Parts: sequence; C-alpha cells; structure tokens
Amino acid sequence: MIKLKDCKCFHTEKPWAFPLAITSIVCLFLLLTCFNMGLIPPLYKINSYFPLFNPRVSSNHSIPHFAEQRVKSTHLESRSSTPRFAYLISGSKGDLNKLWRTLRALYHPLNYYVVHLDLESEPNERMELASRVEKDPMFAEVGNVYMIMKANMVTYRGPTMVSNTLHACAILLKRNKDWDWFINLSASDYPLVTQDDLLSAFRNLNRDWNFVEHTSQLGWKEDQRAMPLMIDPGLYENKKSDIFWVQPDRPLPTAFKLFTGSAWMVLSRSFVEYCIWGWDNLPRTLLMYYTNFVSSPEGYFQTVICNVPEFIPTVINHDMHFISWDNPPKQHPHVLNISDATKMFKSGAAFARKFDQDTTILDRIDSEILHRSNGSFTPGGWCRDIPSCSEVGKPILVKSGPGAKRLKKLINKLIRSAQNGNQCR
Ligand SMILES: *[C@@H]1O[C@H](CO)[C@@H](O)[C@H](O)[C@H]1NC(C)=O
Ligand SMILES: *[C@@H]1O[C@H](CO)[C@@H](O)[C@H](O)[C@H]1NC(C)=O
Ligand SMILES: *[C@@H]1O[C@H](CO)[C@@H](O)[C@H](O)[C@H]1NC(C)=O
Ligand SMILES: *[C@@H]1O[C@H](CO)[C@@H](O)[C@H](O)[C@H]1NC(C)=O
Repeated sequence: MIKLKDCKCFHTEKPWAFPLAITSIVCLFLLLTCFNMGLIPPLYKINSYFPLFNPRVSSNHSIPHFAEQRVKSTHLESRSSTPRFAYLISGSKGDLNKLWRTLRALYHPLNYYVVHLDLESEPNERMELASRVEKDPMFAEVGNVYMIMKANMVTYRGPTMVSNTLHACAILLKRNKDWDWFINLSASDYPLVTQDDLLSAFRNLNRDWNFVEHTSQLGWKEDQRAMPLMIDPGLYENKKSDIFWVQPDRPLPTAFKLFTGSAWMVLSRSFVEYCIWGWDNLPRTLLMYYTNFVSSPEGYFQTVICNVPEFIPTVINHDMHFISWDNPPKQHPHVLNISDATKMFKSGAAFARKFDQDTTILDRIDSEILHRSNGSFTPGGWCRDIPSCSEVGKPILVKSGPGAKRLKKLINKLIRSAQNGNQCR
C-alpha cells in the first residue's frame, strides 16, 4: 500500500515540475497536429515498420514477413480457354506502311496492339499513323489498338530499345488485365499463321510458358559485347546519334550469370509483371547493368529469366520466328525473298523477319497462308463477312487451319525439349 505521506510528489515543491508539464502539453499538441496534417505517417503505417503496438503480430514468429511478394512456383498445367495476346509493333523512319500492313495482317478483336513509331520518324508520319488508327472503323469499334503518342528515342543496339519494349509492356499491363502473352515485333516482321491458328495453338498451353531463345555460351560476345562499356546518347539527347564506347572495359559479372539469344520473344504475363512491377530488385539491377551493354535486347530478358529459379522451368528455347542468318551470323539477318518461301513455311514458326515493304513474298504469304486480300484484315472465325472481314461477328469463334497444325507440332517438340532440361544452360 502506498501511503500518501510517503509520496512526496504532490507536496514537495519542484521548481522544474511546472515547465515540464507545460512542455509536455505543447509537445503532445504538436505531435497530434503533425498526425493531422499528415506530416507523420498514420499509426498503422508506423506499426507496419516497427510492429511494437500490436503484440499479436509481433509474437507470431512462425510467419516471416517478406517484403517481396514471392514468385509463385509454376505448375505448368494447361488451361483450355481462348488466350489473348498483347502485341507491340514498332517502327522507325519510313516504316509507316510496313507497320500498317503488319498490324492489319495480325489483327484480331481479342488481342491488344500497341503501335509505336520512334522519334526518328517524321512527325507527319506519326500523325498519319495516329489518324489511320483513329479513323479505322474496326479499331474505333473494338478499341484494342493504341498508339504511343509520346514517341521514344530508340538507338539501334542501345538500351533505349529495351526501355521502349518495357514501356509498351507497362502500358499493356495498365490498360488490360486479361491478356496472356506479350509479343514484341517490328514493322519488318510478318505473321506466318493466322491469328486463329495462333490462338488455337496456344489455347491448351499453360499460360506460364515463355518463348525466349537463349544460351549461356556467349562465345565471341563475351569480349565484344559483355566487356566493352558503351553509352547510348538516346537516353539524354534530342537528336539521334550512334552509341559510343568508353574506357576501361569491365570484367564479366559474378553476381549473376549472363545469357544471350534472340531479340524476339513471347513472354508470359506473369514474367512481364515480374519485370515491370519490380518487387524483386533483379529486373531493375539488370536493367541498369544492361544500360552499357551493346545490343541489350539480345540479353536483358534472357539474363533476367534465367537467374530466377522460379521462372527457369517456364522457359522454352525458341523465339517463334523464322529468321535467315548467315553462318556464322552477321549483324543483320537476310532480307527474305520468294526463294525462302518453302523453308519458311516448313519451319512451323509463327512469325518471320525481315521483309522489305510490299515485296512479292508478302503477297504470297497473304494469298497462300493468311487468305487476306487488298489490305483487308486476315479473315477468321470472328469475321461476320468473309473475305472482306469488315465487321466483328463472334470474337471467340476460332477457326483454325493448317497453320495451327504446323505451329502445334513445333510447340510440342519444343516443350518436350524443355522438359528434357534444355533450359537456361
Ligand atoms: C500464426 O502462425 C500460424 C502458423 O504459421 C497461423 O496458423 C496463425 O494464423 C498465425 N496467427 C496470426 C495471428 O497471424
Ligand atoms: C523488340 O522490338 C524491337 C522492334 O523495334 C526490337 O528492335 C527489339 O530488339 C525487340 N526486343 C526487345 C527485347 O526489346
Ligand atoms: C533471295 O535472297 C538470297 C539471299 O539473300 C539471294 O542469294 C537470292 O538471289 C535472292 N533471290 C531472289 C529471287 O531475289
Ligand atoms: C481489290 O481492290 C480493287 C480496287 O481497290 C478492286 O477492284 C478489287 O475488286 C478488290 N479485290 C478484292 C478481292 O476485294
């Protein structure tokens, strides 16, 4: 028991007691004002930094509180519903008509399309593309074609190519929640199957597969690509100029393993989210590393995906393209012509590159494979009126043809090879 007599606090004079009380009141007042004005984060936020105020949470030591959302380990089951693709088709100066033809050949109302003409193209060219997209009655009705109006500066072989691709990924993630795969194309690409064929070949696939051609055997790229340091002026200049090299070189990285491969790929939505949202720091760190790497589009996504154990089982070592390289490969692939037709059609690939504008080989693809005529859309189950295909009937009605068979055969072969461990080696 406390005896009042023993407690001197109320009786003795303490010269500092009054000022202390006043100061405390003022402090309390100021603190409350800060909370009110939002200068200090609210209590529940402080609580999440230092879980002191909630013994129930702090006592449960069995749950580690990871800041990162873990990558879900993938089960690779198949799902059977019609998938959706999100495309980026980009071009540069003089590519307007090529891009427009590729876009129309690829069009399907279920998919999404981002089109981009880089800053090197003339403003009139970009305005013309914008007005064609806006005035096209089909695009206006369905609303699934977007043009990037604030054009990016893109330097050939520079990291601005990767940032342009990531920009399109970010737009597509923000605008649409329901696509399954992202496909990066240029105006010099062209499809070798109809979209109905593509949708039907991908229908029963697990949505986590990524088609990324890759190898860890860098070969000549080790000392000609990975070690020299270069700078892309497209990152900070208004006018286009070529990349330049700086000294000294850098050694090969030890914090991650480098992979290289094709700049063309089909990426799953979950992998694109991982790259864009960046809750794990790896995609961001590697983006910075690749800023000074020549031809980063041939390595960035390969190195990211192969350094994340959860994604390795989802990698298929193919880029879904038919490209005709010299042996050994030079900087540019062959421009395809009519004499490549047989090899190209046999390859089973979904796309081919590169093509010149309106060449006879493109007309042959149109007539033999896509059955599209006169600049119309590629006919498919979704069209109300075949062959002109100017109105949407049932978008989910997919009518596959021989192209789907060729593509399925290729994909099945690739999946078998992936399951035999041909991944990230
Ligand atoms: C504490 O952890 C256990 C097991 O890990 C879990 O079942 C339980 O719900 C947790 N309790 C709280 C309060 O989070
Ligand atoms: C994406 O597409 C563009 C086409 O303009 C290409 O140049 C680039 O290398 C591609 N790949 C990546 C990974 O960005
Ligand atoms: C097609 O391209 C190849 C290689 O680029 C070339 O050798 C050949 O002459 C070309 N054929 C035609 C018909 O232009
Ligand atoms: C293609 O267009 C031309 C003129 O624009 C027209 O005369 C022709 O009938 C069209 N062909 C088809 C198959 O629609």
